[in-house]
Amino acid sequence: MDLRTVEEVDAKLLPLKKNQKTIGFVPTMGALHEGHLTLLRQAKQECDLVVVSVFINPTQFNNAEDLKAYPRQESKDLALLLENGCDFAFLPTAEVIYPKGYIPQKVDLGFIGTTMEGEHRPGHFDGVVNVVSRLFDIVQPDRAYFGNKDFQQVAVIKKMQKQLKKAVEIRTVDTKRESSGLALSSRNIRLSEAEKEKALIIYKTLNKGKEWAEQYAPFIVLQKMIDYFNESELELEYITIVHPETLQPLNQYWEPNATACVAAYCKDVRLIDNMVLVAEKS
Ligand code: PAJ
Repeated sequence: MDLRTVEEVDAKLLPLKKNQKTIGFVPTMGALHEGHLTLLRQAKQECDLVVVSVFINPTQFNNAEDLKAYPRQESKDLALLLENGCDFAFLPTAEVIYPKGYIPQKVDLGFIGTTMEGEHRPGHFDGVVNVVSRLFDIVQPDRAYFGNKDFQQVAVIKKMQKQLKKAVEIRTVDTKRESSGLALSSRNIRLSEAEKEKALIIYKTLNKGKEWAEQYAPFIVLQKMIDYFNESELELEYITIVHPETLQPLNQYWEPNATACVAAYCKDVRLIDNMVLVAEKS
């Protein structure tokens, strides 16, 4: 079930496509957890076959130390994928994804690419676009699955898909959390239990924001969230409350699905999370 080259992918998938089988695709960077497996399960429900890729994409890391420290556990990942009904795992090398002479596809992300993560991790989304567009071309899925945990990444992928006119439906899945509320992340492996406890301030701040949103304008909620967060031992990189599609910061007025996004360091581990503060009226 593991495929490592474009030729191996074609040999397995092209005959299935000829037989009208729908292909679901879940791109990951491995160190798989329940969040990734939720995407896999949703893909299994909606497609005939599911391909999961595991590739730690060097071009989306703007920090060499972060890339070096990123957890790697290929055999454990493969076992998890098999147990959870993945049909094919695609495990390419950097040479397979970026062959000599490969010219990355360019997308103009505009503000969506430069705000929040784009501002603090310059080049990150260009790397994400590079790798996801290349993976889409290799796998040619009918549907691809992304987690709302990476809220801005979803906006970037949707914009990319529109501009490059990829024939793939983008599906999104809600954030999977530990029972404590901490969002699952491959990076959590690097946190001790005590640090995980401290990192809960992110989830608590988001929840407080939701509560305050019932009463106050966005700019007041934002200040309250920052003050609340700063009582903790984590180092805040940013909190922003944004429009769910344009990602423009909200100040005076709420929008349906207004979303608060947080990035913070728990020692040297960078964590992100987000929450819808004002639900859409039904
Ligand atoms: P990675 O961080 O491995 O995440 C792979 C997918 O799993 C992403 O769509 C992400 O949003 C989703 N995911 C991660 N944690 C989740 C959680 N707690 N609940 C729900 N979904 C979760 O995101 C990437 O890799 C890369 O940028 C990638 C898209 C693979 C491109 O390299």
